[in-house]
Amino acid sequence: MMVLSSRLVALALVLYVTAVPAPTGHIVHEVRDIIPRGWTAVRRAEPDMVLPFRVGLVQPNLENIEEYIMDVSHPESPNYGKHWTPAKVASTFRPTKESVDTVRTWLVESGVASERVKLGTGGSWIKVNVTIEEAERLLGTEYYVYQFGEDESHTHVACHEKYHLPEHVSKHVEIVSPTLHFDTKPRGPAGQWQKLGSRDDASASSNSSAHAIGQPGFGTSFPKTTGTVQGIIDQLENCDEQIVPNCLRALYDFDYYPLVPEKNSLAIVEYTPQAYNASDLDIFFGNFSPSQVGQRPILYSIDGGYLETEDGGGFYYNGESNLDLQYSMTLVGPRQPVQLYQAGDFYEGASFGNLLDALDASYCTFEGGDDPEFDATYPDPHGGGYEGPENCGTVSPAYIMSTSYGYTEADLTPAYEQRQCAEYAKLGLMGITVLYSSGDYGVAGIGEACLDADGQVDWFGHTFAPAFPVDCPYVTAVGATRVNPNSTIFEPESACEQIIQSGGGFSNVFPVPSYQAAAVEHYLANYPPGYPDGTYNTSGSRAYPDISANGANYVVAVQGEYYLVYGTSCSSPVSAAIFSAINDARLAIGKSPIGFINPAIYTPEFMAAFNDITTGSNPGCGTEGFYAQPGWDPVTGVGTPNFVKLLALWLALP
Ligand SMILES: *[C@@H]1O[C@H](CO)[C@@H](O)[C@H](O)[C@H]1NC(C)=O
Ligand SMILES: *[C@@H]1O[C@H](CO)[C@@H](O)[C@H](O)[C@H]1NC(C)=O
Ligand SMILES: *[C@@H]1O[C@H](CO)[C@@H](O)[C@H](O)[C@H]1NC(C)=O
Ligand SMILES: *[C@@H]1O[C@H](CO)[C@@H](O)[C@H](O)[C@H]1NC(C)=O
Ligand SMILES: *[C@@H]1O[C@H](CO)[C@@H](O)[C@H](O)[C@H]1NC(C)=O
Repeated sequence: MMVLSSRLVALALVLYVTAVPAPTGHIVHEVRDIIPRGWTAVRRAEPDMVLPFRVGLVQPNLENIEEYIMDVSHPESPNYGKHWTPAKVASTFRPTKESVDTVRTWLVESGVASERVKLGTGGSWIKVNVTIEEAERLLGTEYYVYQFGEDESHTHVACHEKYHLPEHVSKHVEIVSPTLHFDTKPRGPAGQWQKLGSRDDASASSNSSAHAIGQPGFGTSFPKTTGTVQGIIDQLENCDEQIVPNCLRALYDFDYYPLVPEKNSLAIVEYTPQAYNASDLDIFFGNFSPSQVGQRPILYSIDGGYLETEDGGGFYYNGESNLDLQYSMTLVGPRQPVQLYQAGDFYEGASFGNLLDALDASYCTFEGGDDPEFDATYPDPHGGGYEGPENCGTVSPAYIMSTSYGYTEADLTPAYEQRQCAEYAKLGLMGITVLYSSGDYGVAGIGEACLDADGQVDWFGHTFAPAFPVDCPYVTAVGATRVNPNSTIFEPESACEQIIQSGGGFSNVFPVPSYQAAAVEHYLANYPPGYPDGTYNTSGSRAYPDISANGANYVVAVQGEYYLVYGTSCSSPVSAAIFSAINDARLAIGKSPIGFINPAIYTPEFMAAFNDITTGSNPGCGTEGFYAQPGWDPVTGVGTPNFVKLLALWLALP
């Protein structure tokens, strides 16, 4: 348990009694009741500190987004596969001129010089650098410097409890940042996690470092390792002890030769300081795919993301990236390039917002991507603005994106999560498949966080803690399975309960999407786990994971040695490789990519093309968690992919 020094506690108490009254005519725009566990307000933020203030404007038509995405993603829809152009996405959700003008006028009338105010690409954020003093005045709030634990180098600036907006402005605004959201990575030793959680496994050997271990997040879901292995056994009989690419090919019936790699794309997303090590890739390729020795992912650097940190080699810097790239690149094979979206520089890191910004810019970038002065570029809302894709960015997002990072849902606010989730829906509308690993802590959140009865993070609570963004109904959540000990790949896998537990559960923010309702109802009606009321959300909310894939005993080369690695971090890139092959086959016959797959995979035909996992559970928060059962379950989703069956189904769709 975290022990705060009495000085900090005393300060926090003193700080908490000073609440600012709302300026007249202002209403509360967003509230958070409590700050995430481990953080303490240590002082008021310096008045002259500069904040990258961003106002997220209300987006028209957002209330129809489920309808839009179902229209292009449900196999029975006549518009299946008719994905939207970036320009159509941009123009459908582009905030109105009235919203832009209202917010801008408010800023200017509050004393922010007009030339300081910029409209972001895509038109949905107004951006302005303001001092803390200005931000406090604008929002009727107080900003504090929060510190994680006792580490003074490890801080985050956020406002206290709530912020206000003038009533007439509030209705044009979804969210203002940075305000209440702890979308930051604690910049401290990985070992701190051990102090907070009670986790007692191989990850406890994690090394300390002066820098953040990966971004983003108040917690990340890194792969775990039990250490190095001597002697790799590349034999199908040994997949219960060591997973190598051939095990996965055999398990998921996956053998594919790409036909149109130049038309196809997939990307792995990594957050600095996580980075891959090139010589480790070659060691792995040398053993498992010799023709790929020397092959590298195509780097897209986002907000300063770069490769190969000098400062931090080791499992905790290279483990995630090496794993993701070694397996995805080997499985798609030498013909299909893999893209790497490397986000964030070493010191500031990045959050999912940075990635989404980068992709958002590509919805419709004006003249190559620089932030426009908004008067010059804001399109006429009555038509005559940009319409065609020719005005949009040159970098379009890859057809499949796999990410293995996450937050605990309770550490952010619903408005923040809803806004970000809508961005994933937009990617889906454009035909992009967004995969997220479901987390490694079973029904607990990142780092084994659980909740108290009020829904706040409590490391010793018994209420399940869903994770974000994997609980967003517009991403595909990937859980973990394993080959049972002393079993072969020809016997059914179980939910992974070895070193890690497959993340799964029910969101407290997002209602159940229509595509999933019947599957979730079936599970709860037939296999209710029988926990006391309030243990998890039974009101009919988005449940995850959607699918699963093996996540135990992966052989991964890190710093010249092979490690045994565990995690849903393994499952997501492997699934990405399999779905990418299906995209290739569809693209080769002139069809669209598979895009947002959830509405398809919950149909009976597709569910039958997954290997249903019916054994194992995902313990957490002092419980056994949920049990894998016939049909969909919140441990392994609809099951693991059978490539051959899925390929046939997807090729048959328009
Ligand atoms: C805010 O300041 C940073 C750093 O000087 C600059 O890069 C950025 O463009 C500024 N943003 C705006 C909206 O002026
Ligand atoms: C952690 O890394 C430091 C160097 O940064 C090293 O001296 C130390 O032995 C390492 N500790 C462990 C447990 O690996
Ligand atoms: C697997 O087999 C080995 C050798 O036969 C045995 O020692 C071990 O207990 C078995 N493990 C399990 C989980 O059954
Ligand atoms: C349960 O989830 C719904 C969204 O589906 C949410 O509105 C509700 O507040 C959640 N309940 C609790 C107790 O968090
Ligand atoms: C990369 O890994 C190799 C071993 O494969 C090691 O010798 C080298 O130091 C690593 N580089 C960095 C920057 O960690």
